[in-house]
Amino acid sequence: MDPRKFRNALGRFPTGVVVVTARTQAGDLVGMTMSSFNSVSLDPPLVLFSIHRKAQSFAAWQSITRYAVNVLNEEQEQVSNQFARPSGNKWEGLTILTGRNGAPMLPNAGVVFECESYARYDGGDHEILVGRIEAIARACLHLPAPTRILRRPISPTSECGERPHPATGSRASARLVRISVL
Ligand SMILES: Cc1cc2nc3c(=O)[nH]c(=O)nc-3n(C[C@H](O)[C@H](O)[C@H](O)COP(=O)(O)O)c2cc1C
Repeated sequence: MDPRKFRNALGRFPTGVVVVTARTQAGDLVGMTMSSFNSVSLDPPLVLFSIHRKAQSFAAWQSITRYAVNVLNEEQEQVSNQFARPSGNKWEGLTILTGRNGAPMLPNAGVVFECESYARYDGGDHEILVGRIEAIARACLHLPAPTRILRRPISPTSECGERPHPATGSRASARLVRISVL
């Protein structure tokens, strides 16, 4: 099969975009833009994505056991582009939030699934990673007013961290709010 035709045909299936983020055992940050994200199971709560075996961080992902799946919102095209570059400093200019499971998370993602590695499967030139969701978070920086995120009833809600804003260094306005925990 002509790979280009196959790819073009797949392009007819619209997907969202996520950035999967983690720290290696050495503490280095890794992150990749992914459109292969999908839900798998409700019980247990499982999601999947597939990593190209030729990705520079592929070897690092072999020993990563905890990671975050950051679902990007419509205004984060630049973040998507930044994490689609091979290597380089993908994290430049971004405030790094840390999730409950220790994985680095992106500010202002639509929602973040904090996962532990559940299974891996051969997927041809990709490897399919299945993650078990440990927590669901919404990371927000610079909340103009708490009511903005609390517009609808959310329970349990707990603030779990403060990070400095990249531009101002202000800690007061940089807040990580967790909207629900599984
Ligand atoms: C919209 C979009 C979706 C992508 N989806 C995937 C994907 O599902 N799996 C994958 O391995 N690479 C995907 N990529 C490419 C990776 O983001 C890119 O190769 C990766 O960031 C390189 O990482 P590296 O530094 O480990 O080589 C996608 C890129 C874009 C722009």
